[in-house]
Amino acid sequence: MSKDANGLFTATDITGLTLRNRLAVAPMTRVSASEDGTATETMARYYERFARGGFGLLVTEGIYTDQAFAQGYLRQPGITNEAQSQAWRPVVDAVHRHGARIFAQLMHAGAISQGNRFRDTTIGPSAVQPKGHQMEFYYGKGAYPMPTAMTEEQIADAIEGFATSAARAVAAGFDGIEIHGANGYLIDQFLTDYANRRDDRWGGDTRRRTTLVRAVFDAVRATVRAGVPVGVRISQGKVNDFSHKWAGREQDAEAIFGALAEAGASYLHVTEHKVWEPAFEGGRDSLVALARRYAPHVTLIANGGVQDAARAQEVMAAGADIVALGKAALANPDFPNRVRAEREVTAFDPTILGPIANIKPSELAA
Ligand SMILES: Cc1cc2nc3c(=O)[nH]c(=O)nc-3n(C[C@H](O)[C@H](O)[C@H](O)COP(=O)(O)O)c2cc1C
Repeated sequence: MSKDANGLFTATDITGLTLRNRLAVAPMTRVSASEDGTATETMARYYERFARGGFGLLVTEGIYTDQAFAQGYLRQPGITNEAQSQAWRPVVDAVHRHGARIFAQLMHAGAISQGNRFRDTTIGPSAVQPKGHQMEFYYGKGAYPMPTAMTEEQIADAIEGFATSAARAVAAGFDGIEIHGANGYLIDQFLTDYANRRDDRWGGDTRRRTTLVRAVFDAVRATVRAGVPVGVRISQGKVNDFSHKWAGREQDAEAIFGALAEAGASYLHVTEHKVWEPAFEGGRDSLVALARRYAPHVTLIANGGVQDAARAQEVMAAGADIVALGKAALANPDFPNRVRAEREVTAFDPTILGPIANIKPSELAA
């Protein structure tokens, strides 16, 4: 084990589901589904490469969860009917053939939806125009439209969408479910002070703003069988507000991570720009350290800016059980195998994501 002094290649488990090592692929939207939201052969080959390259766990791109307001991007895959569910089978099977696990990331875009074939308006916790601009590499342009504040019924429908999608994902063979509570999408909009101005039970202080994520978690947990891990992804930054920080700092971390630990999350997936750096200006602890503190017994996946094995080790030493790679995995779909063989790691080339972030033929070349 001399090549594995840092423990990246020790097996682990998430609530009993074994993983062959500690390296995961972070969720990445690649807008490469069919127009009707079915996963494609290209996607199966794309995900298969990470499994063949030695990753222990793959988290899919965000998958939309209903045929109402959930879809965020044109060519985003969904899991809202039988055809979409079946289309994931070849993806899951290809990954399993190479000994990796794959979790479905379930996502509702809420107010920052910029391409939805089911609706031409958006909804969110409150009628607050999202910051930032639509992403052109996902076929968007200009400002985000003003959303309407969700009704009780729309909130119930959104929760139901997560639960039925989770059931479909498990039926399609996924090994676990990741609820996308990060990066500015619907659940994160509810968590966020300036986006959630509600004065009913879905809004208020930080603890009250966790009501939606807890409700989604409970609904998903009640739907899938006990052995299937159900985790939640959490971030401060958002695709439309990159440098956002929680105003309540460590107290917010305690409220959010504590609520999810108490709810029974199988794992937390925390992501920051550079996940090893202090979470708050002038502070010392990283978000990984804070998640470890306030969710001490929950498996912790850390993501953000990790490009090499030494950094991955540092993040594990700070409290992570698993390290997820995004851009480094795109540049090195065989990152784990390379590290094990002590081969050099290739730097990420951003041109791969332009002009549209779809999967490129060059990525699939052997
Ligand atoms: C092209 C692209 C698409 C992404 N799509 C998603 C997504 O669907 N869901 C998600 O939670 N994060 C998404 N992310 C964020 C990544 O999971 C990750 O947090 C980010 O790239 C930072 O990690 P890294 O430095 O290892 O790349 C995406 C990132 C990229 C580059």
